[in-house]
Amino acid sequence: MSRVNSITSRRKGSLAERAAGACLAVSIVGTVGLGATYWLGGQPQLEGGFLFLALAGIGVGVVTWGKYLVPQGPYVQDRPEMKSPEPEVAAMNASLERGISQISRRRFLLRLLGGSVGVFAVVNLFPFLRSLGPLPQKSLFVTNWKKGSKLVTASGRIVTVSDLEVGGVLTVFPQGFESAPSNAIDQVVLVRAASYDLVTRPGRETWGPQGYLAFSKVCTHAGCPVGLYQELTQQLLCPCHQSLFDVLTGATPVFGPAPRPLPQLPLYVDAEGALRSQSGFDEPIGPGFWERGA
Ligand code: FES
Repeated sequence: MSRVNSITSRRKGSLAERAAGACLAVSIVGTVGLGATYWLGGQPQLEGGFLFLALAGIGVGVVTWGKYLVPQGPYVQDRPEMKSPEPEVAAMNASLERGISQISRRRFLLRLLGGSVGVFAVVNLFPFLRSLGPLPQKSLFVTNWKKGSKLVTASGRIVTVSDLEVGGVLTVFPQGFESAPSNAIDQVVLVRAASYDLVTRPGRETWGPQGYLAFSKVCTHAGCPVGLYQELTQQLLCPCHQSLFDVLTGATPVFGPAPRPLPQLPLYVDAEGALRSQSGFDEPIGPGFWERGA
């Protein structure tokens, strides 16, 4: 009778091991599916299903393991005499041998459990890291303004030297980059502050032909577009926190929290009268960040 019980119990144990192993394997499949779905663009219902499989697999596997594979107590053993009789010693040796094979199977289960939890943790790092957004790459340092770029309006019309009266203002882009989203860092505010060549600072003698001055429109405080021009004071105003930039001294901040001038774009007029940039900006545009120390 006890031999029948022992065989039944071993079968149950083996069944439970397979069930726990299958659950943990399902969990790994669910986690990999979750990561792949997220990587390929995401689909909420599918991601939910895979997440359910991943977590339920670990949960059911661990519960099955604990309920059917971990020995249940309490165990009481009478010890009328210290010396074990021969049959008992033989039975113990047989039991030990069985135990060794069980321990090696449990070790496999333990590895599977470690694998499912590890894969779950690693795969779920992807959504976290990817949700931080794209890397800024070179956008903190360079724009699409190059030597010879034509100034165009948002609709792509080429801006010529006769387009603005003195006091006029226009938002312009480098030709070919006037459409969103690439135009966000390229937007430039073009001001005609006089009818003659203007020099905003030493070294910028040729940058302002016929009174045209061009500055990055991205505010150096927090990146708002600096779009308002006050003709009377010849200042640009950022509407977000009211920083004022003096156009004639190279958009130097004269009021508000902006810590540095708006970078100036050097201009020239080509043979057809179109306004072009002599080069890109000679410094990064936009708000200060750690590497610039501003
Ligand atoms: S973003 Fe321009 S002043 Fe703050």
